[in-house]
Order: sequence, then C-alpha cells, then structure tokens
Amino acid sequence: MDSPVPSPLTTSPTDLARAAELLRTGQCVALPTETVYGLAADASNPTAVAQVFAIKGRPLLDPLIVHVPDLAGLAQVAEPDARLAKLAALWPGPLTVVLRRKAGVPDLVTAGKDTVAVRLPSHPVFREVLRLAGRPLAAPSANPFGYVSPTRAAHVVASLGARCPWVVDGGPCEHGVESTILDLSVPGRARLLRPGPIPVETLRGLLGEVEVVTRAASQHAPQDAPGMLDRHYSPATKVALFPVGSLPVVANLRSAVVFLGRHASPPANADVFLLSESGAVAEAAHHLFDLLRRLDGRGYETIHVELADPAGVGAAYNDRLTRAAAR
Ligand code: TXA
Ligand code: MG
Repeated sequence: MDSPVPSPLTTSPTDLARAAELLRTGQCVALPTETVYGLAADASNPTAVAQVFAIKGRPLLDPLIVHVPDLAGLAQVAEPDARLAKLAALWPGPLTVVLRRKAGVPDLVTAGKDTVAVRLPSHPVFREVLRLAGRPLAAPSANPFGYVSPTRAAHVVASLGARCPWVVDGGPCEHGVESTILDLSVPGRARLLRPGPIPVETLRGLLGEVEVVTRAASQHAPQDAPGMLDRHYSPATKVALFPVGSLPVVANLRSAVVFLGRHASPPANADVFLLSESGAVAEAAHHLFDLLRRLDGRGYETIHVELADPAGVGAAYNDRLTRAAAR
C-alpha cells in the first residue's frame, strides 16, 4: 500500500464516539462483531454504502446486511413478521433474517431486491457504535470480495490496508464464522440461506420446518444469497479437505495439514496444525479463518483441512471450508 495506514481505533469512549461521528459523516469504519469484522457504513446514505462496495471490490448485485440495535430498529427497515417473536431468544446474536423491505432502504443496500437482510448484533462495541451513530449500519464482512473473512482487526488492516482507514480493534471475534442467514420473506416458508453459529437444528426447534438451500439449488438462483457462491472465503493457496477422523493424502513436500482435533498419528511429511485441543467444532470455527490467513502466503502448495461432523456449528464450518476449497 502506498498511503500510510492509520493505527486502529481503540474501544475507549472517545474512539467509539469518533467512529460514530465518522459513520454519521458518510465514512466507512471497520467494526468488530461477535461473528467477523464488518465494514460499516450509514445504511441510509447511498454514497457511504457505495464506498463499501468500492473498498471491498464487491459486485453491486450482492446485497448488504443492515445492522440495527433492536426490533424497533428492524421495523424501520423491514416489514415485521409474526415468526420473529419465536426467534426472540436468539437476539441479539449471530442470526440474520431476510424480510420484505421498507421503501426507505436505499436500492444499493438491497441490490434492488424487494427484501432486506437484517441483523441485531450482540457485540458490545458494535452495539455502542450503533447507539451513538443513531442509524442502521450496513456492514458486509471487512475483507476483499471472495477472500477469507477477518476475525481480528489486524486481518482488516492486512487485507484492506489504506483502502479502509478506520478500524476499531475489539479483539478476536467470538464465533469466527459469519451469521446464520434465515429467509422469512416468503409467507409460510423459512429457508436457511447460509449456515452459521446458530444451527438449523435450533431454528427448527423454534419455527418447525426450515428448508436448507443447498449449493445445487442456489446455483439455479444465484441471487438468493451471493455469499452462497461456490468459491468464496478462499485463501490464495489451494485448500483440500479430508473427512473427520481420517488422514489426508499428502502427495507433496510443501503441505500444511490442519486437524480439527487431536489425531493419534499425524502425517510426518507435512507441517501439522490443530484448531481445537478438545476437538470442539465451535472452538475450531473460532480459529479457522485466522489460521487460514496465517498459512496463506507461507508458500505451501496445499493446505489440507479436516472437515467436521456436519451437525450443529459443524455445518457452517464445513460450508466455509467447502467454498474455500472450490476452484
Ligand atoms: O456475520 C455476518 O453476517 C457479517 C457481520 C459483519 O455482520 N456480515 C456478513 O456480510 O457476513 P456479508 O456481506 O459478507 O454476507 C452477507 C450475505 C451475502 O451472501 C448476501 O448475498 C446475503 O447476505 N444477503 C444480503 N441481503 C440479502 C437479501 N436481501 N436476500 C438474500 N441474501 C442477502
Ligand atoms: Mg462476506
């Protein structure tokens, strides 16, 4: 990067007031959430939102998630749905719902769709900035389009650099994978568009039937959630996957092997890494993107990563890895 990158803002009251002021005056600020870092902009300001797309190199037909503090904020941008009451225990938290939009939401935010994705984040720093800014904030993950999402402030600085001058450093993100996306925009239907920290099993327990939009189905309707693109969340280095509990076929010398949990006899001809001592998938997901970023650029020919049991958060973990591995 040519221009200097300013040091990150802290979470001090002064710096958070600064972040809110920057947002109110149409600038973009990267903020921590409980999932990944988001690149936030005033959702009611199309010029500010346009900068988000430019900074990320994101196609304009990929709509943004609007972040609001509470259900009153949600009602400003979306048509409330009776089913939201059943999800109350999950809010605030890592669940995004797609609803019919209200007219005031800029077309740029929704990519011209008649729906809007809304989320009530739980991260105290994001919530405080929302409160101080006093308006909904549109925020995609703060990474160049298609690359691995950032789970630390340093990731944002490393991959967006001077393109994003303002980053609030709130430490590592709790979940490490992006929010679960649930589409409630069609009456009587609930569709999981993106698996995330809130498992589909939990949603089914609260709502009854929830359809899972499979990768094959999303290819027929790629606009459903462009984050469902086959290749996404990808490091530059080739990623290869192997089933939980097994060993990868390591054919070359410069390989990294990433285990979800401990393996009794790891391969001797590769560098071996571990995502969770206890083999807990939530802990593995928390560390996954950070490790992929650290391994990318170390000159490995292939990064082999162990898949999870697909239950619970394992579905989100496997989903991100499958997309990272897609060519
Ligand atoms: O955890 C998260 O959700 C993070 C943090 C920053 O909140 N945000 C995030 O945003 O992951 P992004 O832009 O990287 O992913 C949002 C996904 C995209 O795949 C987009 O296509 C989809 O949400 N989306 C947004 N609006 C939509 C809509 N109206 N209908 C369907 N999908 C939508
Ligand atoms: Mg993203």
